[in-house]
Amino acid sequence: MSNNRVQIFDTTLRDGEQVPGCKLNTQQKLIIAERLDILGVDIIEAGFPISSPGDFASVEQISRMVKNAGVCALTRAHQKDIEVAAQSLKYAVRPRIHTGIGTSDSHIIHKFKSNREAIMERAIKAVAYAKTFVEDIEFYAEDAGRTDNEYLARVCEAVIKAGATVLNIPDTTGYCLPEEYGAKIKYLKENVKGIDTVILSTHCHNDLGLATANAIAGITNGARQIECTINGIGERAGNTALEEVVMIMKQHPYLNLDTGINTKMLYSTSQLVQDLMGMRVQANKAVIGENAFAHSSGIHQDGVIKNRETYEIMDPADVGVNESSIVLTARSGRAALAYRAEIVGFDLTKVELDDIYPQFLKFADNKKEVDDDDVVHLMELNHIQKKATA
Ligand code: KIV
Ligand code: ZN
Repeated sequence: MSNNRVQIFDTTLRDGEQVPGCKLNTQQKLIIAERLDILGVDIIEAGFPISSPGDFASVEQISRMVKNAGVCALTRAHQKDIEVAAQSLKYAVRPRIHTGIGTSDSHIIHKFKSNREAIMERAIKAVAYAKTFVEDIEFYAEDAGRTDNEYLARVCEAVIKAGATVLNIPDTTGYCLPEEYGAKIKYLKENVKGIDTVILSTHCHNDLGLATANAIAGITNGARQIECTINGIGERAGNTALEEVVMIMKQHPYLNLDTGINTKMLYSTSQLVQDLMGMRVQANKAVIGENAFAHSSGIHQDGVIKNRETYEIMDPADVGVNESSIVLTARSGRAALAYRAEIVGFDLTKVELDDIYPQFLKFADNKKEVDDDDVVHLMELNHIQKKATA
C-alpha cells in the first residue's frame, strides 16, 4: 500500500454508539456496517463483545457479512475480553483485536491504582495473548494525549515487540492542541524502535472542538490511520468526523494523502446514520449539514449564481448533495429572486424584477424563508406569465 494512503478506521458502531440514548440494535448495526463497507472504509470497529450478548452478536454477524473491510473488536487488557473478542471475530475475513490500557498518570494512579512498570507489563501481556488468536493487533494507549511522551514511547516499543501491528494514540479527553498532538506523533515516529513496521493511528475526541484538527495534525506528522465516526458522533462532544477528514484530504491535494472513500456516498451515509440513531446533526455541520451548501445573503448568492466557486470550496456533487441551494430570505438580492423565479418557471425582465423586488422584501420580512410556492404566488399577484414549456 502506498505511503500516502490513509486508512479510515470507522468506529461509528463502537465509540459512536456510546452516545446516550442512541443505542442501535443488531439489525440496525448490520445495515450501517453494510453501508460502511460500500463507502470504502478500511476497518469497521463493530463493537465491544464482552460488554453484552447483544454486542457480541453484532460483532459476530457483521464479521460474517462484511467482505471488503477488516472487522475489529475492542477489549480491555483482560484475558477474558480478548478470548470473547476472538470468538466474535471467528468469521471475519480480516479480523483485528483492539486491546489496550490507560497510560497517563491520571489513569495509572486513579483508575488502576498501579504504577508505570506494572501497566507496561499488562500491555505487553494483552498484546501477546491477543496475538495467539489473530495476526492483526491494534494497541490503544488510552489517554495518550495526556501521557508523558517518553513513557508512551517505551510502551509503544514494548507492544511492537509483543506483536502489535497498529498503535492507536487516543486523545481520549479531547484536550490536546493540534501542535501538541502532531508533535506527539512526530516524537513517536522519531523515538520508537520498530515504528516503521507498524501503522500509527489517530483517535481524537472533540471536547474542545479540535478532533478534526488534531487528526489532521496526526497524519501530517506521520500517522497513517484515522479513527472516526459518521457525523462525528460519540461520547460527550463526539469523535473526529469521517466526512470532515476525508474531504480535507480530497480538497487539499498538496497534502498528497488519499483514502479509499467514495465521497459521493457521504451525504446519504450521514442521513442513514441520523435516521437509524434518531439523532439529527446541526444544520451548520461541516460537509453534510443541511446548510453546508446553502446561501442566503445577497452578496453570497450573487457570487454563487455567477460562479459557484466564489463561495464554495467543494462541489456539493462530490459529497452526494444534488446542488447548492439559494435560500430566499430578507437578506437576498435581486439576482437570487430572479434565479429562483426562473427555477419555478418565470423569466423576469429587468423592469418586472425591479417592480416585484420591494414586494418580495416586505413579504420576506414577515417570513423567515420564502419558498417556491411563495415565489409563484408573488408572480401571480403581479400577473407575470409562466414561460411556455417546450
Ligand atoms: O477514546 C479512547 O481512548 C477510546 C479507546 C478505548 C480506544 O475510545
Ligand atoms: Zn474514544
